[in-house]
Amino acid sequence: MKSTLAFDVYGTIINTSGVYNLLVIFMDKKAKAFMDAWRNKQLEYSFRRGLMNKYADFSICTKQALEFCCLAFQIDLSSGQKDALMEEYKVLPAFPDVEAGLQSLRESDYKLYAFSNGSESAISGLLKNANIMEYFHGIVSVEDVKMFKPSPLVYAHFNKKTNSAIPNSWLISSNPFDVIGAISYGMRSAWVQRSSEAVFDPWGVEPTTTIRKITDLKSVLEKME
Ligand code: 2OP
Repeated sequence: MKSTLAFDVYGTIINTSGVYNLLVIFMDKKAKAFMDAWRNKQLEYSFRRGLMNKYADFSICTKQALEFCCLAFQIDLSSGQKDALMEEYKVLPAFPDVEAGLQSLRESDYKLYAFSNGSESAISGLLKNANIMEYFHGIVSVEDVKMFKPSPLVYAHFNKKTNSAIPNSWLISSNPFDVIGAISYGMRSAWVQRSSEAVFDPWGVEPTTTIRKITDLKSVLEKME
């Protein structure tokens, strides 16, 4: 039986740099540093909420991280500009390799799921807007267990919700914290190294495999299955 594949969303199939164009309009040369700080603070807030057992919808982490960055960068965005950025977050584009990669995996009878910190409704909106919803058997959101990645509870929830066994499931993610979390839980995991500058955390836990694009995945899985 072919494996069940959990695809991380933000940064793996969906490009969070999609907000960059708006940020350039609002803050010109500070846009790149602001966008990177925003993403890092958004994830930091999810980690802190997980440790504190103070779950909130991931969009709250995103919005509060945006507010933090406005203060830290001393950039006084209007509420309209903040709303525009939050709206943009709902319609981010898929990476160019994603559709072909998902299609080839679907045609080879792999079970594909979107698996995210984002709520089911947020992820559904993103996938529909990016026209890739049809390739997924379903969406699994951490909101069901009110915990965030990389808690083992969320990977266990994925296996339960998709009725998949740990040895027969993979996490596909560009986020090293997610890859290390899934492997530590017991799943196999492919790290999608979206940029040559991306560094994998030196924890002594290596990805099961490393790919550069989703279109590389099918041949790798077939060699390893
Ligand atoms: C996710 O989509 C945050 O990239 C992470 O769950």
